Amino acid sequence: MAKITASVYTSHVPAIGAALDLGKTHEPYWKPVFEGYEYGKQWMKDNKPDVIFLVFNDHATAFSLDMIPTFAIGTAAEYQPADEGWGPRPVPVVKGHPELASHIAQSVIQQDFDLTIVNKMDVDHGLTVPLSLMCGQQDPLKGAWPCPVIPFAVNVVQYPVPSGQRCFNLGQAIRKAVESYDEDLNVHIWGTGGMSHQLQGARAGLINRTWDNQWLDMMINDPVACAQVPHIDYVREAGSEGIELVMWLIARGAMSDVSGGKVTGKVPKLAKRFYHVPASNTAVGHAILECQ
Ligand code: DHB
Ligand code: FE
Repeated sequence: MAKITASVYTSHVPAIGAALDLGKTHEPYWKPVFEGYEYGKQWMKDNKPDVIFLVFNDHATAFSLDMIPTFAIGTAAEYQPADEGWGPRPVPVVKGHPELASHIAQSVIQQDFDLTIVNKMDVDHGLTVPLSLMCGQQDPLKGAWPCPVIPFAVNVVQYPVPSGQRCFNLGQAIRKAVESYDEDLNVHIWGTGGMSHQLQGARAGLINRTWDNQWLDMMINDPVACAQVPHIDYVREAGSEGIELVMWLIARGAMSDVSGGKVTGKVPKLAKRFYHVPASNTAVGHAILECQ
């Protein structure tokens, strides 16, 4: 049987991708950001998954405002890095896992979550920056990401966006789906985006360290309470783009301590926690949880 053994959480700032691609990681501004991921990069080598289920948001790159799926699962064999205006990032193509992705789609839709099936999609910084942070730079042609990736896109760009509670419930359905796949696969689930940031309007540049760290505490230790945080709190406290954090609750809901909407098992082991400001306009948060 396939199994979700761990979850990874990380912000996805585009300027981090540019710093990596332009060789700026040792500059004083960026050094502390990348140091925060040294543990995670080694952890990825020591705990290599067979598949990564990567929850991210598209930023009007693959989906324009013409069509906005709330939840979209990638069932393709591969995904090209997107051109977001400066040419595609020089990173390897992302290989998918069509068999497991199709199985998860079937199971999750039967559990009453309506997913959009995506057979062709370019992936933007929301997906490639977390991969680069956790796996390091790879040669775009000769290199490869360590394993297949199932992209799972969540609409957090255009309201109405899904609630934290719905994301948390969806994570539980994804865990059930993975556990009913008839092949021994070690699956990691990643929740990406966040933490506090606002890119527009009068409060552009907003960062809220206190709220971010309290939210992280709750996400890790009391996910049931965290799932109940309403949209307005994210927007008020963490800025308009802070709403990206609801995606972390999909990964948290897929951990083995959660079942039937409650914490019934052993809280996962916190292998890493990191928080840093500044990085472009965003507070960078990162955590790794291992199922016990
Ligand atoms: C920034 C952060 C984001 O999440 C994003 O999608 C675009 C830009 C930033 O901090 O600049
Ligand atoms: Fe973003």
